[in-house]
Amino acid sequence: MLQVEGVTKSFDDFMAVNGANLTVNQGEIVAVIGPNGAGKTTLFNLITGALKRDKGRILFKGEDISELPPYEICKKGITRSYQIVNIFPRLTVFENVQVAVLSYQRRSSNLFRPAQSFAVKETRSILESVGLLNKEKNIAGSLSHGDQKILEIAIALGNEPELLILDEPTAGMSPEETQATIDLIKRLATGRGLTILFCEHDMDIVFSIAQSIMVMRHGETIIQGGLEEVRSNKEVQEAYLGGD
Ligand SMILES: Nc1ncnc2c1ncn2[C@@H]1O[C@H](COP(=O)(O)OP(=O)(O)OP(=O)(O)O)[C@@H](O)[C@H]1O
Ligand SMILES: [Mg+2]
Repeated sequence: MLQVEGVTKSFDDFMAVNGANLTVNQGEIVAVIGPNGAGKTTLFNLITGALKRDKGRILFKGEDISELPPYEICKKGITRSYQIVNIFPRLTVFENVQVAVLSYQRRSSNLFRPAQSFAVKETRSILESVGLLNKEKNIAGSLSHGDQKILEIAIALGNEPELLILDEPTAGMSPEETQATIDLIKRLATGRGLTILFCEHDMDIVFSIAQSIMVMRHGETIIQGGLEEVRSNKEVQEAYLGGD
């Protein structure tokens, strides 16, 4: 579904992403791991078009999307959430998702869809699937940090993505919230048939949800493979897993 081939991105003369490679197959949950500053967020920004790559190719369903602007890439079915929570804090939970659903519907250009419905059904169904329906009337900014991150996933779902990209989805969460988010990610993959690409520092989380892991260091891809292959890789152990 997604193929990143030898992609580079430098900021001035600093190579943040340096020949990264990544393959994401349809229906898979893929993790990108690597120390702080390895280039994970930058790679996600390149995939979603927020940044333009200097070299290499990014293919989505066989089509080269490297040159497309972010909204075109989004329209093709790639949506992301951010490392730092990105919601409308003054709107309600319901409204946050509704805005996303309405904007998706407008983009999908069905001019005859009755706007009067205001996407209530679709919005509720998304809130239900992430477990936030009972908080739909709450002001988003008043939610716990964990719920705000879940809300961000809900907003992303409003876009009906095929590939959902999550940048540290459990960062700053309590252990309970983390577990709920892990369950949610698994549910989205199996229940909604979503393909999920995420990055995460907590190795327990990575090894409990990912089917394939790509390891980055200094902007480079050290390896991508299945759990055992990555765990037993010498270079990965030295560079990242602390040799154990
Ligand atoms: N806009 C920018 N301008 C200059 N340097 C940048 C910019 N964005 C990122 N960098 C640098 O590129 C490198 C990779 O950053 P990036 O945010 O992709 O890392 P990361 O793997 O996501 O790290 P973390 O785990 O801390 O989130 C870092 O050294 C960072 O300082
Ligand atoms: Mg990051």
